[in-house]
Amino acid sequence: MPESPHTAPHFDINGDAPIRTDVSAIERQQILAVAEVGHGDPDVIGLWYGESDLATPRFICDAAAAAMRSGDTFYSVKRGVPELRRTLADYCSALYDRPIDIERISATASGMSAIIMCLQLLVNKGDNVIVVSPVWPNAQSGVRMMGGEPRFVTLDSTPTGFHLDLEKIYAAVDDRTKAIFVNSPNNPTGWVMPSAQQAELLDFCRKKGVWIIADEVYARMVYEGKAAPSFLEHMVPNDPVLVVNSFSKSWAMTGWRIGWLVHPPSIGDVLGNVVEFNYSCIPPFLQKAAIVAVDQGEEFIAEMNAHCRLGRDILEQRLPGMNRISGYQTPAASFYAFFRIDGGEDTLATAQDIVRKAKLGIAPGSAFGPGAEGWYRLCFAQSPDRISAAMDRLEAYLSA
Ligand SMILES: Cc1ncc(COP(=O)(O)O)c(C=O)c1O
Repeated sequence: MPESPHTAPHFDINGDAPIRTDVSAIERQQILAVAEVGHGDPDVIGLWYGESDLATPRFICDAAAAAMRSGDTFYSVKRGVPELRRTLADYCSALYDRPIDIERISATASGMSAIIMCLQLLVNKGDNVIVVSPVWPNAQSGVRMMGGEPRFVTLDSTPTGFHLDLEKIYAAVDDRTKAIFVNSPNNPTGWVMPSAQQAELLDFCRKKGVWIIADEVYARMVYEGKAAPSFLEHMVPNDPVLVVNSFSKSWAMTGWRIGWLVHPPSIGDVLGNVVEFNYSCIPPFLQKAAIVAVDQGEEFIAEMNAHCRLGRDILEQRLPGMNRISGYQTPAASFYAFFRIDGGEDTLATAQDIVRKAKLGIAPGSAFGPGAEGWYRLCFAQSPDRISAAMDRLEAYLSA
């Protein structure tokens, strides 16, 4: 009789046949530890993940379906088909008003995979990566997975919002520093790195021979202007900078898993190898859809931003006046509210309690590294009635 998986002996991954300790030591993502409490409960309003309730626009889905039907289902080239790379090069060139050559562009299987490949390219065991925090947790876990040390430099929280003191970065860099990971617009704080600081940090990195991994996946999620300041506005092609971007957020394509990297042209071939040994290629029908998303997606990006603005307006009216809430600043970019709950210093336990008692899902500060202690993150990229209902629930919970 075949052995049932339920009767098989328990296999301990740290026991006789251990997996790599750099991997087994990685802690569970704390947002999931909250989401699991509400898993399967349809009454919970889950604002814990970084995702809108707007579906991928129909014209993008249609393009993927048409490409599939026409036979775009075979292996594809590693760094993306030339038409997609050309489209992205033209998009970046137009957005930042400077020529960005196709040789600097590689499509990737998501922003996350772009980040992990950057780390695979750069981090030797024992190297460190400066991580500006609070920050979305996956990048620092990626550093650990490579056997590197994430070395945190915290943003300063001030009455006018979050600020980065570059001196803190300069003091943290040593001869094992391989890269500086900076995410702007920032998840979770909404902080936007000023253009002048980007120029100064780039100058420092050129002199020191340290890479910048610039995570700019929220570049278009701004409430004034067309895009947030980008390292691309300061770079020459062979600068030690890797700019990560994604279709997930502004084009509402979180489940599609497609993004891109802007990198020095000289690393194209080695990056192609890294792609080959991770996932080999992005599905070609997704690439066709991505071309259409960029070419025809500007109206949708404006619609997404307007949708987020409605959520942000509701929060602006309701959140600061609530019992026990402090620290909230209306973000200039991204789709996150970041705030403190007085008396809620154990953010994981409090966020889990809010799910149980108020049927509301928010992310605990403990997920976002140093500088986020006592803070909470809520994604407001949802329809106004859901955001209003979420505010009602939070208000009732905090007044109880
Ligand atoms: C700051 C940041 N970078 C990268 C990503 C990854 O995006 P994706 O892998 O969906 O492209 C996210 C997703 O939440 C994010 O918040």
